[in-house]
Amino acid sequence: MSQPGTRPRLHCYGCGRAGRVIVRWLHERAGLAVGQICNRSLTSARRAVEFIGAGEPVEELQPDISGDWLLLGLPDGELSGAAVGLSSRMPGQAELAFHLSGSTPAAVLGSLGVPVASVHPARAFADPAAALVAMPGTWCVGEGQAQPLAALKSVVEQAGGRWLEMQSSGKAAYHAATVAASNYLVTLNELARNLAAASGLPGQQSAELLDSLQRAVLDGLLDATPARALTGPIERGDAAAMARLLAAADEHGQGPLFRALGLATLELARTARGEREADQALADVFTSRSD
Ligand SMILES: NC(=O)c1ccc[n+]([C@@H]2O[C@H](COP(=O)([O-])OP(=O)(O)OC[C@H]3O[C@@H](n4cnc5c(N)ncnc54)[C@H](OP(=O)(O)O)[C@@H]3O)[C@@H](O)[C@H]2O)c1
Repeated sequence: MSQPGTRPRLHCYGCGRAGRVIVRWLHERAGLAVGQICNRSLTSARRAVEFIGAGEPVEELQPDISGDWLLLGLPDGELSGAAVGLSSRMPGQAELAFHLSGSTPAAVLGSLGVPVASVHPARAFADPAAALVAMPGTWCVGEGQAQPLAALKSVVEQAGGRWLEMQSSGKAAYHAATVAASNYLVTLNELARNLAAASGLPGQQSAELLDSLQRAVLDGLLDATPARALTGPIERGDAAAMARLLAAADEHGQGPLFRALGLATLELARTARGEREADQALADVFTSRSD
């Protein structure tokens, strides 16, 4: 067991895009020592160690990790099998084990026979170097057993992260929320860029225009409910304008998503301002056939 006041050593099994950022962040900002780094290939483990700037690349995790922490930074589908495989080689040795999945419960690591938790950093790790710079202030959502959660909360907060805890039963809905907020925002941006391109605006400038619009809306949403933040032709009940916009979206192959979002936005407008006479005309516009 790590003694009070001493920093535990962190090993990482599956040190890809997310794992290497978390290990380096906790090493640099919370003073955790870095132990073994194990990936499918030794070459990949070496690359992770190079990024972290500490640790020992290994072909197989060596069993002597008593009192240390073990991060399983594997893809979600690999977690259960990896825990079973590791348990036969190192039963009950680590002080705690945790994974980084937003939707898989910590209990998937149960066969390790040690206290388990999961910590989902609400951040995209596609570019590890950029993600590392952005880590301070990142929300980290913990779930699992009380003792490892308390220990992980302490180091995450020391590293400058923001901590939140949830029950395992809510994980799928939580992860759906983060997918909607981040992945679907990208899809929306793509829809907007396609329509801007169809308008004849130059690509770079229109990308910047749409970016500044989306950022301002997101800023406004911090202090208002989505229903209250809504503006534009749907909120005003302008069915004629929406019919023109939808015709343009149909002409340029963007109709289905534009319609679906229009109907959802109409529902949102109704909750904010109540029913208006034009709402049926708006609903008819969005449910009309494109041909
Ligand atoms: N990426 C994100 O933006 C993000 C954000 C939040 C949370 N997460 C979570 O982080 C976890 C990892 O995701 P990721 O995007 O970092 O995945 P990733 O980049 O694909 O990295 C996975 C790592 O696991 C290693 N690995 C796979 N199977 C293995 C095995 N059987 N034995 C040993 N090592 C193995 C891979 O080794 P090789 O390099 O040798 O192939 C790779 O280094 C997931 O639970 C995910 O939900 C990811």
